[in-house]
Amino acid sequence: MTANLPSASAAVVRLTRFTRTELSEIVGDGEDAFGVSWTGLTWRGKEEHFGIERDGRLVAHTGLVTVPLSIGSVETRAVGVGGVVVAPGLRGQGLARVVMTAALEHARTVGPDYGLLFCMPHLLPLYERFGWQQLHEEVEVEQPEDTTAVMPLRSMWVPLREGARWPVGPVRLRSLPM
Ligand SMILES: CC(C)(COP(=O)(O)OP(=O)(O)OC[C@H]1O[C@@H](n2cnc3c(N)ncnc32)[C@H](O)[C@@H]1OP(=O)(O)O)[C@@H](O)C(=O)NCCC(=O)NCCS
Repeated sequence: MTANLPSASAAVVRLTRFTRTELSEIVGDGEDAFGVSWTGLTWRGKEEHFGIERDGRLVAHTGLVTVPLSIGSVETRAVGVGGVVVAPGLRGQGLARVVMTAALEHARTVGPDYGLLFCMPHLLPLYERFGWQQLHEEVEVEQPEDTTAVMPLRSMWVPLREGARWPVGPVRLRSLPM
């Protein structure tokens, strides 16, 4: 019986890959696990993957990928966070907090001063509880065939080192969004 274990006892593992197969293990075979297909955007894969397993099954995931961006006149990089997902039957038990905390702990060792994510408006309060802050600037992101799009989701950032401040100015992600 592991379903009601307190979140602190959930061990986070590094995954070598996170494909449609691993996503299906968490959420089943639905088409739009993150509820963002309406955006029509093309997304990029993440490069580092953190997961929680229960009874030999993957039940939670958070991915990281370092992305270049400009903020005003500053050319910089951020650790993009995406693919945050928990198995439907195990939500509300703190698993997202556990896997996100482990991913952010790692993100602090990568180099960039900021974490960056995009989310649906109803998840702003959830990420705020993890220390993320909403970015009110419009964020332009790259899309295939040398096009760009304005990110229609909410943007959030988190400092990855003490004292880090998000620079002022328009934000252009020089990458597909994550
Ligand atoms: C979003 C999701 C990952 C949250 O997973 P979860 O395991 O239920 O989240 P947790 O139980 O760790 O909750 C984390 C914190 O946010 C709070 N919270 C959870 N859902 C919330 C919501 N919808 N709004 C506000 N706060 C919320 C919890 O109370 C908890 O706070 P606490 O740790 O201070 O007590 C999960 O609902 C999911 O997989 N959704 C579908 C995929 C998705 O939308 N992913 C996000 C893409 S940006």
